[in-house]
Amino acid sequence: MTRRPDLVRGATIVGTGMYVPDRVLTNADLERMVDTSDEWIRERTGIRERHIAAPGQASSDLALIAARRALAMAGLGPEDVDQIVVATTTPDRVLPSCACTVQAKLGAKNAAAFDVLAACTGFIYALGIARGAISTGIAETVLVVGVEALSRIVDYTDRNTCVLFGDGAGAAVVRPCAAGEGILAVTLHSDGVLGDLLEVPAGGSLQPTSRETVEQRSHFIKMRGRELFKVAVRGMEESLRAALDIAGLAPADLDLIIPHQANQRIIDATRERLGVPAEKVILNIDRFGNTSSASIPISLDEVVRAGRLGPGDNVGFVAFGGGATWGATVSRWTMPAPLTDGVAQAVTAARGAGS
Ligand code: UT7
Repeated sequence: MTRRPDLVRGATIVGTGMYVPDRVLTNADLERMVDTSDEWIRERTGIRERHIAAPGQASSDLALIAARRALAMAGLGPEDVDQIVVATTTPDRVLPSCACTVQAKLGAKNAAAFDVLAACTGFIYALGIARGAISTGIAETVLVVGVEALSRIVDYTDRNTCVLFGDGAGAAVVRPCAAGEGILAVTLHSDGVLGDLLEVPAGGSLQPTSRETVEQRSHFIKMRGRELFKVAVRGMEESLRAALDIAGLAPADLDLIIPHQANQRIIDATRERLGVPAEKVILNIDRFGNTSSASIPISLDEVVRAGRLGPGDNVGFVAFGGGATWGATVSRWTMPAPLTDGVAQAVTAARGAGS
């Protein structure tokens, strides 16, 4: 479908879904693997447990379940999707993209599919792409997925990182809406100079996988956590404030903030700088750990299914991650609450798809 370029329309989330693998890795399990303690992990991060993909369960498998749930909520089928954007740091393979694999498994034969690598900010980048595609008429229905099987690149002999990360997937279906509703503002930032604060040194074109890289464990995540911590708090505050400015809102106008779940202390510090009460900020890091690009859509799906968002509510997403990348979105929620599968489809139809 082609659209007149002067006809700007909005984009809004009409369905959400999430999935985490069955296997749970607790702090007690980690105490038996590395020199750590449940007390240290809880006090320094807020994490109690995380989910780990089964052998043979790839990122696309996690994404597929989340995507099907999001489409069911939206009352749409795979063939309605015309773009799939998968944010991931852990695609099934280097080539093809995880998004193309999800497309094949889903049977979304009408979709263009590609991956976005923006680490923990990936879902926000992907949502920004979806909004742009819909506003310009490139797409009508975009499936945005954040998925990670981080357990595949975590070194379970490194206590600095192995206690932090978990696996999971979250998805959102984005459709047109009236201008001034839905996703009101998106702010995206990067600073590649900070690239080595969080990296997987080997397995790419710089250091292709070799016997040496495997022996040196260079195909696993390396992180300079303390340095990341400081820039994360500043970046999250600034990007959410910038998105609020674009939307013409103040922090107090937000009904809910869904932050990336990297560390409870990062979330608390960001919240305090913004002057927002704790009850408006979603925290589930205790159950999932840091699932990178999946953490925001997982949290969003929990919030939506719990009926915590209703039409007209202002919700902010904010994240910081490797790259370094950071960013935020501010949306005016359009879906009714509590939500059942198919309700969003009725809402979309009633709006005349915003066109
Ligand atoms: O997802 C987006 C990107 N990621 C982030 O934004 C993560 C940001 N960073 C963090 O969340 C925190 O820096 C960490 C949770 C990674 C670490 O917490 P910290 O309070 O910054 O600890 P630290 O790295 O300063 O280490 C303090 C001590 C060290 O011991 P010494 O040198 O003081 O004797 C570490 O060796 O804690 C030690 N330590 C541990 N002790 C028990 C580090 N990891 C562990 C552990 N168990 N798992």
